[in-house]
Amino acid sequence: MNEPRNLLLLGGSGFIGTHLAFTLANRGWQVSVPCRRPHRHRELLVHPNIRLLEANITDPAELKSLCQDQQAVINLVGILNERRKGDFRRCHVDFIKAVVEACSACGIRRLLHVSALGADQASGSSLYLRSKGEGENLLHTFGQRGLKVTSFQPSVVFGKNDEFINRFAGILSWYIGFFPLACADSKLAPVYVGDLVAKIADSIDDRGSYGRRFTVCGPEVFTLRQILELIITTLRLPVRIMPLGKGMSRLQAVVLQNLPGKLFTMDNYRSLQTDNICPDGGSCETSLRQYLEGLAAMSGNKRDYDRFRKDYVQDKIPEAPS
Ligand SMILES: NC(=O)c1ccc[n+]([C@@H]2O[C@H](COP(=O)([O-])OP(=O)(O)OC[C@H]3O[C@@H](n4cnc5c(N)ncnc54)[C@H](OP(=O)(O)O)[C@@H]3O)[C@@H](O)[C@H]2O)c1
Repeated sequence: MNEPRNLLLLGGSGFIGTHLAFTLANRGWQVSVPCRRPHRHRELLVHPNIRLLEANITDPAELKSLCQDQQAVINLVGILNERRKGDFRRCHVDFIKAVVEACSACGIRRLLHVSALGADQASGSSLYLRSKGEGENLLHTFGQRGLKVTSFQPSVVFGKNDEFINRFAGILSWYIGFFPLACADSKLAPVYVGDLVAKIADSIDDRGSYGRRFTVCGPEVFTLRQILELIITTLRLPVRIMPLGKGMSRLQAVVLQNLPGKLFTMDNYRSLQTDNICPDGGSCETSLRQYLEGLAAMSGNKRDYDRFRKDYVQDKIPEAPS
C-alpha cells in the first residue's frame, strides 16, 4: 500500500482553499490547514484526511515547524483590500519569501501557488495586481534549485460560498429600481472553483507543470454588467443596471472605500481597468450561465427545472445554493 502523503495548505480556510482541501483529501492526501480562527472552519473537520490547526503562519518559526514532514505546500493566502498600508506587500510578497525559505529549510520539493490573472510586477493596473506579480516572480526566481514551483492565474472564481456572485446577489436582492454599476464594461472570464481546484490537484505530480505559470479562465467572456444581468434574471429581481462613466465609477470607489466593509475601493477600480480574460481563451469547461440556471432550476419551480433539463446535458450537478 502507498504511504499517505502530507500536504500543507496555506490559505486553506478561504473560499478556494476549502474546496481544494476536500479535493486533495478525497485523492488521499493528508491535508493540514493552519489558520487564525479554526472554530470558523469546522466544516473541514468532517473529512478524516483534513487536519485543522490554529497557527500564526506569518511567524517564520511557526511556518517552518508546520512545514516539517510535508511533501508539498500550496499557498492561497491573499487579500483583495488592504486594512493597513503595506498589507498587500506583507501578504503577497514578504509571505512568499517566508514560504520559500521554510520549504527550503525543511527539504520540501514541491510548491504550488495561486496568483491572479493580470498579475504583473511592472505594469499591473493596481497595487493588488503588482504585488501579486512581484510575489509570483519571486517564487519562480527563488524556487528553482531543488524546489519545483507552479503558479496559477485565475480570472474571477465562482462556486458555492464565493465572494463574487454571492455578494452581488446579496446586494441586488435588497435593491429595487436602478443599480449604479462602476466599471460595467470590464470583461471577465469566470472560472468554476471545481475546475480550478482539479487543475491544481492534477498539477502536483505533473512534472510538465514544474516552473510554469498557468492562466485559468472559464469558457465564456462577460462584461461585469452582463454578469449582474444574469444574476438579476436568475433571481427574477426588480432591478435594472445603470452603468456609471469613469468619473462616477471613481467617485463611487472613493465613497465606498471609506465605508465599513469596503465594498469597492480605488484599487479594485484600478484592477478592473484591465480586462480579466485569457489571451488564448478559456481552459475550463463549466459555464457560469449554466451554473446559475442550474441553481435557479433546483430551487425554483418544476417548469424551470424541466426547461433546464431539456436545454442542457449536465455532466456536472450544481451544488445546492449556499
Ligand atoms: N476568489 C477569486 O475570485 C480569486 C480570483 C483570482 C485570484 N484569487 C486568489 O486566490 C487566493 C485564494 O482566494 P480566495 O477567494 O479563496 O480568498 P479568501 O476566501 O479571502 O481566502 C484567503 C485565505 O488567506 C488567508 N489569509 C489572508 N490574509 C492572511 C493573513 N494576514 N494571515 C494569515 N492568513 C491570511 C485567509 O485566512 P483566514 O481564514 O484566517 O482569514 C484565507 O484562508 C488568493 O490569493 C486570491 O488572491 C482569487
